[in-house]
Amino acid sequence: MSGTNASTLTPEEPEAPTNRPPSMRRIKLWLQRPYARKVLILTVLIGFLLLPLCWLLLAAMNQTGAPASDIMKDIEQTIFVFTLVSIPITAFVFAVLLYSLLGWRRVTGDEPPMQDSPAIRTNTIGVILWTGVSSLLAFFLVVWGLIELAQITANSYGSISADEQPGQPKSEIINVTGQQWVWTFEYPQHDGLTSDVLYMPLDRPVYFNVTSKDVIHSFWAVELGIKIDANPGAITQTGVTANKVGTFNVRCAELCGMHHAYMQTEIRVLEQDGFDSWVRESGGKKTS
Ligand code: CUA
Repeated sequence: MSGTNASTLTPEEPEAPTNRPPSMRRIKLWLQRPYARKVLILTVLIGFLLLPLCWLLLAAMNQTGAPASDIMKDIEQTIFVFTLVSIPITAFVFAVLLYSLLGWRRVTGDEPPMQDSPAIRTNTIGVILWTGVSSLLAFFLVVWGLIELAQITANSYGSISADEQPGQPKSEIINVTGQQWVWTFEYPQHDGLTSDVLYMPLDRPVYFNVTSKDVIHSFWAVELGIKIDANPGAITQTGVTANKVGTFNVRCAELCGMHHAYMQTEIRVLEQDGFDSWVRESGGKKTS
């Protein structure tokens, strides 16, 4: 493998601040070393191998029909971008790891150990480059995250409580109650109709008033991209507009006891007509 590198500085000329080559020259020398090249090649290879992960994650999330709302679409976009941006760094870390494990063997025979120069450490250009690039990546993620968070909060009616939303006659209010280990959905606009399956009308804002009868649960409408704690003695609020007809999933997202993992039910998003018939057939009042 690596063996001895043609040391560019002779032993009589040890690297010292006084006779150190300029930064650019040292980067070039460093890049000529076999181990540096191998790590860089590995980084690129691993990076390309990891690339499909961005789409695999989306495919996994979309298996059950997501995205069924604008919120979920935003979330998927964010997961995609964050995965993409993290790939170069992940690839580099794995390349160094793999090379350290497999390529960095002890020197056999009479070969002398590798020279330690020219060092990349304390190289001004190098330091500025890697600090700059990683800061830029991190800054981009922070800005993206804040913008998306504001967007999602607005779309889930998070800034104004559900009961105080300005004149939205067509909105649907649903009271969600969690208890060990079932969900109950009550429709106060339809004579307090209740159901253990979450029926929702298509393309209409739905506001959820969420609470719990016992311990803390978390109401998670998976493919709609909303999740909020269900606390005993308090009402938390969220909302979403479903934009796809279909059957989706509600899960509990807070460890709440023995059957937490089974605290799940279905969401059925129906077109307005279908939703109205369900309300009628279940004994509730038709939508105004
Ligand atoms: Cu309810 Cu976990």
